[in-house]
Amino acid sequence: MGSADLHRYLATAVLTLGVIHGGMHGFWHAKRKKLAVVGIVIASIIAFALGIFGVPFLNRQKRSVEISYAEKQPEAIVEWQGNKPLVVYFTRMGNSNFEPDVDAVSGASLLISDGEMMGNNQLLAKMICDITGFESEAITLTGEKYPSSYSDTIVVAGDELKEQARPGVEPIDVSEYDSIILVYPLWWGSIPMPVATFLEDNDFDGKTIYLIITQGSSGYGNTISEIEELCPNAKVVPGASIYCEDIPDAGNQLVNLISSWNTGQM
Ligand SMILES: Cc1cc2nc3c(=O)[nH]c(=O)nc-3n(C[C@H](O)[C@H](O)[C@H](O)COP(=O)(O)O)c2cc1C
Repeated sequence: MGSADLHRYLATAVLTLGVIHGGMHGFWHAKRKKLAVVGIVIASIIAFALGIFGVPFLNRQKRSVEISYAEKQPEAIVEWQGNKPLVVYFTRMGNSNFEPDVDAVSGASLLISDGEMMGNNQLLAKMICDITGFESEAITLTGEKYPSSYSDTIVVAGDELKEQARPGVEPIDVSEYDSIILVYPLWWGSIPMPVATFLEDNDFDGKTIYLIITQGSSGYGNTISEIEELCPNAKVVPGASIYCEDIPDAGNQLVNLISSWNTGQM
């Protein structure tokens, strides 16, 4: 458990105990004791849920994480047998209106790797390529970029999802590849709409799409079925769902995962 996790759990415990404590003061004065107990239980559950889900949400909006990439990168190298996959990733970095000297506040949720500001998925893609020697391509918007502010991006992305928008992206040629490693963030429980554009723009028939997702809570959301629907004749292989704060330490997990794909032990 990292210090961020420890902080989150302690904050949640203090918040929940505070609510129970306050509730017990109320309980002694309450006329309807049963109702008071129900109220305390409900308020405690809400406080607990706020702590577990709210603290990571605020973390993502308020801070970026500084790492030394050289210290994090595993020494192990994966030797891929056969036609190497292409790593295709989507990230806010490069697709947002950040100033060139984006700082840790406006770039909240991003990583600072050896002084360079990077998107979470950009760093993951770099790690994969350094471990394997694969090539990578970024899904890059051709039109308007997302706002620099994290919370404004949430709003724009929510509207795009409702409208099932397909923002234009630079072409990426996947025709020479038998498999793609798609590295993408969870947005509103879904794939970001530029990722949908990329999937629709290309022919994945007969290809394998390995999935690596990053997120701020857990799981793949609806993304596996969304990708299967967009690429009905591809084999879609979920690989890892990585919590954003765990990304800098994901190197060994990636080594094991990619090795297992290559030997067919999925
Ligand atoms: C527009 C937007 C929507 C998001 N929606 C979710 C979500 O529904 N669930 C979640 O766990 N994380 C969500 N996140 C957090 C991102 O998935 C997470 O921070 C990701 O690692 C960001 O990758 P990036 O830095 O490469 O852009 C969202 C982030 C953004 C910007």
